[in-house]
Amino acid sequence: MKQNRIIRNVHIVTPLGNEARRGADMAKVAHFEKGIIVIVDGMIEFAGDEKDCPAELLALHTYEYTDAGGRVAIPGIVDSHTHLVFGGYRPDEFSWRLKGDTYMSIMERGGGIQSTVNATRGCTAEYMAEKADWFLRRMSEMGVTTVEAKSGYGLDLATERRQLEAIRMLAEREDAALNIVSTFLGAHAVPTEYKGRTAEYVDFLIAEMLPEFRGLARCCDVFCEKNVFEIEDSRRLLKAAREQGYALKLHADEIVTLGGAELAAELGALSADHLLHVSDEGVKRMAEAGVVATLLPLTAFALKEPYAPARKFIEAGGAVALATDLNPGSCFSGSIPLTIALACIYMQMTIEETITALTLNGAAALGMAADTGSLERGKRGDVAILEFDNINYLPYYVGMNCVATTIHDGRVVWQAPQ
Ligand code: NIG
Ligand code: FE
Repeated sequence: MKQNRIIRNVHIVTPLGNEARRGADMAKVAHFEKGIIVIVDGMIEFAGDEKDCPAELLALHTYEYTDAGGRVAIPGIVDSHTHLVFGGYRPDEFSWRLKGDTYMSIMERGGGIQSTVNATRGCTAEYMAEKADWFLRRMSEMGVTTVEAKSGYGLDLATERRQLEAIRMLAEREDAALNIVSTFLGAHAVPTEYKGRTAEYVDFLIAEMLPEFRGLARCCDVFCEKNVFEIEDSRRLLKAAREQGYALKLHADEIVTLGGAELAAELGALSADHLLHVSDEGVKRMAEAGVVATLLPLTAFALKEPYAPARKFIEAGGAVALATDLNPGSCFSGSIPLTIALACIYMQMTIEETITALTLNGAAALGMAADTGSLERGKRGDVAILEFDNINYLPYYVGMNCVATTIHDGRVVWQAPQ
């Protein structure tokens, strides 16, 4: 459902352009303090100073009206990395980690991802869609209007398909509050039935799964990690995926420095994600190749790991996106407010860079920057109106939601209680 809407009396803050903003350009956001946004049939026709808005545009259609009361509007937020669809939960693992266990040692004992796989294999697509919808409603309250959702908790043909079907069901709903993009992550772990036969599992993914899911998933991702899918297996899978028309993403250099960033650059991936332990060479190559560095500070926080080197990427002329990594294991949180606080306080990103990272650069990490991620003509009418008239509140109101109204395709999809 798309709507015509005028948002007036609004302070617009937005990055501009149809591609990722890199390096020093990440901080260059446009401000229109006396702004107006005109949305026609769900798409932005005008966003800028009220005095520059053509009068005939206002007379051309009938509109719904939103008076922002002088408050800030930023582009709808793009959460470009989540594992939204899954069965079960893993609170016990979290409690073990609090006592000193590590993420990888739990995984090596057959817990971790495999434990969610066991739960997910027993779930119908309808059940998973309903469960995921609960998270989507929370996201919408935080201003998220585009979300990426990965499969990867099936690791067999039937369950991976059910996960992707659950994502499609959510994406195709007439009244969807968000735009949902799916990623195939069959290479999330080596399932128990293939234990010790990683290369054979990769063969199976290439021969059986990739061709099956071509129309269902836009991107293909891999957990490129020591003792999971190492560089050669990841390269083989991603090359095959690229040939079959998938855009590429990698979970790279999350636990140890393995060269996932370099591989992302070599293959021209849309993004490499996590990057807590990226090498300096990897930073450089990603920046040169224009691969978006999707950084996930909530995961580093929850795993008590060091944060990814956001400043190194920006100083190398690279593009940084921020996302939540919502999943039942390493990071059971979809908190945009906490992501903002961690990026600004611990990763030394400026507030302007953080806004760009959560909007236009997130869209670029999904190959969607042409019509998503900024407030300007030709983009989707996706807007987050804040409670405040100043962007400095975003990290200052630590971990708290600053969004008053979320608008998707010109429609108000969430309004904070007054
Ligand atoms: O992005 N590291 C691999 N995948 C997820 C975690 C998935 C899980 O623990 O269930 C991540 O952190
Ligand atoms: Fe992830």
